[in-house]
Amino acid sequence: MIGRLNHVAIAVPDLAAAAAQYEDRLGAKVGAPQDEPDHGVTVIFVEVPNTKIELLCPLGEDSPIRGFLDKNPSGGIHHMCFEVEDILAARDRLKAEGARVLGSGEPRIGAHGKPVLFLHPKDFNGCLIELEQI
Ligand code: CO
Repeated sequence: MIGRLNHVAIAVPDLAAAAAQYEDRLGAKVGAPQDEPDHGVTVIFVEVPNTKIELLCPLGEDSPIRGFLDKNPSGGIHHMCFEVEDILAARDRLKAEGARVLGSGEPRIGAHGKPVLFLHPKDFNGCLIELEQI
């Protein structure tokens, strides 16, 4: 059901410092910061040849990644995003198998302007999974 790994997201305490590290030290192509007020994050995408790295920093008072950074003050891997062809079919199949979809269960528009859903980390070995319809 899942397709390509679209990105790995890393929560970071200092977005500019993290972006500079990927650009200057690792020589990666780094995009511009984008505020995602609906998701409570500011993101920077780092392009590598076979996938992307999404650097995430809290935006606003009740950012969903604030708690993660409180527990992991120097940052850490926050989620992985896999591509799916039909997000509603994927959601319904996963729910029928007992997996929990976060939030309302309805897809929201993600950082690439495409519908996304998140699956509960407790159902996937402690890893938050994002599905993005391509
Ligand atoms: Co993501």
